[in-house]
Amino acid sequence: MNYRGPFRVRASQKPDPVILHPEDAIIKVTRSCICGSDLHLYHGEVPDTRVGMTFGHEFMGEVVDIGSDVHKLKVGDTVLVPFNIACGKCAFCKQELYGNCHESNPQASAVGGIFGYSHTAGGFDGGQAEYVRVPYADVGPTVIPEGMDPDDALLLTDVVPTGYQAAEMGGIKKGDTVVVFGAGPVGIMAAKCAWLFGAARVIVIDHLEYRLEFVRNYANCEAYNFESLGDPVLFLKKTTDWFGADVCIDAVGGDAAGNALQTITGRKLLLQAGSATALHWAINSVKKGGIVSVVGVYGPTDNLIPIGNVVNKGITIRANQASVKRLLPRLIDHIMSGRLDPKAIITHRIPLEEVADAYHIFSAKLDNCIKPILLMPSAR
Ligand SMILES: NC(=O)c1ccc[n+]([C@@H]2O[C@H](COP(=O)([O-])OP(=O)(O)OC[C@H]3O[C@@H](n4cnc5c(N)ncnc54)[C@H](O)[C@@H]3O)[C@@H](O)[C@H]2O)c1
Ligand SMILES: [Zn+2]
Ligand SMILES: [Zn+2]
Repeated sequence: MNYRGPFRVRASQKPDPVILHPEDAIIKVTRSCICGSDLHLYHGEVPDTRVGMTFGHEFMGEVVDIGSDVHKLKVGDTVLVPFNIACGKCAFCKQELYGNCHESNPQASAVGGIFGYSHTAGGFDGGQAEYVRVPYADVGPTVIPEGMDPDDALLLTDVVPTGYQAAEMGGIKKGDTVVVFGAGPVGIMAAKCAWLFGAARVIVIDHLEYRLEFVRNYANCEAYNFESLGDPVLFLKKTTDWFGADVCIDAVGGDAAGNALQTITGRKLLLQAGSATALHWAINSVKKGGIVSVVGVYGPTDNLIPIGNVVNKGITIRANQASVKRLLPRLIDHIMSGRLDPKAIITHRIPLEEVADAYHIFSAKLDNCIKPILLMPSAR
């Protein structure tokens, strides 16, 4: 996959990656997802997204080469690879903040390295490709447990941990009402995981009927179309005895619809780092003293958010890129014991050569698309 500029990607031949450092591995990719995060790149909203880069941070495959300092992997292993690139040794990795590694993206002081996510996240080529170079190969790549469906393993690279961490950061307590903004793959998974933490009521907000229908069945929750609610904040207050929700989760990020001013300043004129509509709604519909958990992605510059309401309501805002490696052991357990069934969200399997169509379908939300995966020639 090769980025040619906003709304333009194509399949093309690039030289195969090689080992550049003794801790690298080369993975022959079998499956790779397209993520809502890739859409921010595809829409041209992320600074320093360079023409010629390969996207893709959700992938699995076979180890075909390892550097001289890789000890935990061997050639022939089938691995899933977390989207965060983490050194495993720095002060942040030691706190299990694998999304904030200080070594893998030394140009930035915020996010660590991410596969296929522009030069603001380290400039690494990603896994929507036949082969990918994986740095710090002893840290991230995880051998897929025996008996696990490869589609489930693939979704452990991002969507499952991100949805789970969204719920975890919400500090959900038994009996809580949780509102999830966004019924994309991440929001769907956050809604599903909210129950694992003891929520008593889970409400999802989106404007795509097919996704609302899906999440209602899949996560056994309430789901509402914000276009027919009038003011979603008013609706959410009304349905919570005017207190507001205990926990609100932003699983939308900078591509949010629903507010013309935000859309124009955040997505058209790029005067702010994406449209913060869902974040506004989350802050305004959480109860006093409540928690807003943000996993939706915004750009590195500034956003207009109602900070006065945050202060006056005493809200806690928690946010991060998911720390995939930290969560893998417990999420593998949830999947193997049947409490989570991630592969059910996969709606499209598209050959890598048709990557341009795949992006268009997912971006324009055509054909009831929820989660598309790209199949590499070696997996067909
Ligand atoms: N923090 C992390 O580690 C992490 C990891 C993966 C994805 N993400 C981010 O999570 C977000 C969701 O990812 P996804 O793959 O589910 O994307 P997606 O684009 O498939 O889903 C986003 C959904 O939000 C809906 N939406 C738009 N405006 C809305 C609004 N105002 N209120 C409620 N819903 C609204 C859209 O209709 C869509 O269904 C993205 O911003 C992505 O970058 C973060
Ligand atoms: Zn992703
Ligand atoms: Zn580190």
